[in-house]
Amino acid sequence: MPERIVVLPGDGIGPEVAAVAVRVLRALPVEIEVEQHPFGGAAIDATGDPLPPATVAACRTATAVLLGAVGGPKWEGGSVRPEAGLLGLRRELDVYANLRPAARDDVDLLVVRELIGGLYFGARGVRDDGTVFDTCEYHPDQVRRVARRGFELARTRRRSLVSVDKANVLDTSRMWRRVVGELAAEYPDVELRHSLVDSTAMDFVNRPEQFDVVLTENMFGDILSDVAAAVTGGLGLAASASLGDAGPGIFEPVHGSAPDIAGTGAANPAAMLRSLSLLLTHALDRRDLADAVDEAVDEALASQPTPDVGGTATTQDFADAVLARLEQTVTAGSAA
Ligand code: NAD
Ligand code: IPM
Ligand code: MN
Repeated sequence: MPERIVVLPGDGIGPEVAAVAVRVLRALPVEIEVEQHPFGGAAIDATGDPLPPATVAACRTATAVLLGAVGGPKWEGGSVRPEAGLLGLRRELDVYANLRPAARDDVDLLVVRELIGGLYFGARGVRDDGTVFDTCEYHPDQVRRVARRGFELARTRRRSLVSVDKANVLDTSRMWRRVVGELAAEYPDVELRHSLVDSTAMDFVNRPEQFDVVLTENMFGDILSDVAAAVTGGLGLAASASLGDAGPGIFEPVHGSAPDIAGTGAANPAAMLRSLSLLLTHALDRRDLADAVDEAVDEALASQPTPDVGGTATTQDFADAVLARLEQTVTAGSAA
């Protein structure tokens, strides 16, 4: 049975970088079926729903989901936003652990972001007096399962885990800190440190090389992962894998739909291709091919850099360079 990869191109530069990933995927020696489904603003335009039931059904039974990006000014102020489709899909697939690696020179860190709890999914509403509220809610089980993932990942790396919270202010953070601390007894080989989110943000900028695995809740992880991207080359490079316990993961760049450059050919497809590399590793168990893609991306970043990383190459130039390199390193059927 060939593996089924569901591609959700989305909006803005999403379809531009997803097309590059599909081109690369098709060039690799893997037996694979690729199907695309409407998602985000594009799906709102087509069906009124950013996450149509047929798209959910296709994702549920897929080997993995490869996602571009959603959102844009066109859908702001509408009754339903493209981003609601993304949050709905993450919850549908129960992908609670979002792995966001950031590496350059002596920096090599991994943000493990809780993805389907906290402020994004807590009670929300409007009071009679007009007050609007979103609430941060976590159950200890939600903390435990993502923390376990963080400890396990630290074991495969430099055995250091920094858990980030706001325990000097928030009850959810105090519970987070307690649960993570309790789990530490099961991982005596991993060095655990707790850190407050505000000073951690400063440390990300000033001394990012001191971090290995960084475990944090949904909103803090959203913000810190953009900071981590910024200090390691920018959003054009930052990939992510959103994983549950079983079932398909979602592989998506950290960046959004970049409406400011959509349609100009300036999108850097590296973040998308590195997300494809994470898919090859985590969903298809093809680390050999993942390494080949990473190497081809690094080559293209040197030979055909896009404007965000200081060059003048187009998305297409970059894609051509990656494909040319892969043709040299991975000829059909030759990879182990
Ligand atoms: P953004 O990540 O889209 O863009 C931020 C800046 O980074 C822009 O200047 C953009 O041009 C640049 N950038 C991002 N990706 C790039 C790439 N691959 N190559 C070159 N430059 C790149 O963030 P934003 O502008 O705050 O958000 C735009 C829309 O995207 C919003 O609707 C937001 O909700 C949505 N969004 C979606 C996702 C997602 O689908 N996973 C993630 C973040 C933001
Ligand atoms: C991300 C994005 C999303 C998030 C938005 C678009 C819902 O910013 O993946 O980082 O906040 O999770
Ligand atoms: Mn974000």
